[in-house]
Amino acid sequence: MRRNMTFDTEKLHEQDRHWVHPWENLKTVRKAERTIIAQSEGIYLHDSDGNKLIDGPAGMWCVNIGHGREEMAQAISEQVMRMPYYSPWSLGNVPAAQLAEKLAELAPGDLNNVFFTTGGSTSVDSALRFMMYFNNCLGRPEKKHIISRADAYHGSTFLGASCSGKARDKNLMDFERDLVHLLPTVHPYRRPDDMSIEAFCDEKIADLENKILEIGPDKVGAFIAEPILASGGVIIPPPGYHRRTLEVCRKYDVLYISDEVVTAFGRLGHWFASEDVYDIVPDIILSAKGLTSGYVPLGAVLISDRLLDTLGGLEANISYFASGFTYSGHPVATAAALKNIEIIEREGILENVREIAPYFQARLKELEDIDMVGEVRGEGLMACIECVNNKQTKNPLTLDYEVGSRIDAHCQENGLIVRPIVNMCVMSPPLIITRPQIDEMVEILRNGITESMEDLHKEGLWQG
Ligand SMILES: Cc1ncc(COP(=O)(O)O)c(C=O)c1O
Repeated sequence: MRRNMTFDTEKLHEQDRHWVHPWENLKTVRKAERTIIAQSEGIYLHDSDGNKLIDGPAGMWCVNIGHGREEMAQAISEQVMRMPYYSPWSLGNVPAAQLAEKLAELAPGDLNNVFFTTGGSTSVDSALRFMMYFNNCLGRPEKKHIISRADAYHGSTFLGASCSGKARDKNLMDFERDLVHLLPTVHPYRRPDDMSIEAFCDEKIADLENKILEIGPDKVGAFIAEPILASGGVIIPPPGYHRRTLEVCRKYDVLYISDEVVTAFGRLGHWFASEDVYDIVPDIILSAKGLTSGYVPLGAVLISDRLLDTLGGLEANISYFASGFTYSGHPVATAAALKNIEIIEREGILENVREIAPYFQARLKELEDIDMVGEVRGEGLMACIECVNNKQTKNPLTLDYEVGSRIDAHCQENGLIVRPIVNMCVMSPPLIITRPQIDEMVEILRNGITESMEDLHKEGLWQG
């Protein structure tokens, strides 16, 4: 594979200005000069000027097996030549059928049924629409309300975005406000100083139960939850939270939808985190991203036998679940997913994550000795560095709104891309990362954070 190509960055910047990127600031849309990623291999990226950068976020939490896998390219091209596409409506195709069976085998409990989508957002939207359809079939059309949480991210379709609870995104966009309810944050770091973690957990469980009772159990259809709130800043709910929220949902006959778009396919060292890490078998699991390691777009909604058996057993004639996509079960995407799973199994990548994660977390945790770093937290190979104004008050360092971006800019100068989120930096490297590469990453981060702190000092934006 030729990876020493040269590019005209200035020309690329001109061309890129026609691209309206996700979360684009439309005030500066045609002025941006982005780093253009041109080539990649393993955990490394090369920009169009030839600079080598560690891929700190694995693209967008997704390039789990790492970049530049020849056998992935081969599997994709073979499927293109064998049969690139056919309609999924009334016909099957070979890789999608094989993948459906494989996912049923890997998924916990009775989640043996797969509805293929095109990514995370379409998985979220499909699952929520399935819940609505399910309750219509059961003759309870009122049972449609959805409970989600502050700091959650569930994608960019209208309903998924409405279930997202990231404060910054609740700007000039419109949302579904009647059916979707957001619970307060489950962020242990932000609990009152004198509150134990157990009491905090009790409060969070009460938040859910009270909300169900307030809306009315006969009106609440689903609770949607990421096991770890990824884009919200790798927020890990308190111990016991997952199990107890599932129990509350069971008590009131509310479907539990686990959004594992980030946490599945190895990020926490398991195929799925719901049961293996958090001891729950939800009604529905959503996945995307790591399912193909981001090589091509694909999403999947895993649905329990219990739900489908309930529908199958209904006396009344039920109509179609009128939902699906031209590219549901796309042969090329599902072939890529099969190859991705084969690589993860053959190379023991889940085992690697379980083995290396404590080192990754411990090395990052050392950054807490920097004045500006309030907390470093994480699980598996996902972590977040949260910057604060003052370690005692824990006030988020948002005085300078772009503190995460500043750290990213400094890190890029030294060979690392981080994912900035306001006052936080999220790290989720490819799952093949080694100890020396983790060391390299942490050293660049330390310098990037320290340099940003010094800049802020000089500009009078942070007193420390
Ligand atoms: C937990 C979660 N759900 C859903 C999505 C949406 O996925 P996509 O961007 O593939 O539509 C994301 C994307 O980051 C996510 O993190």
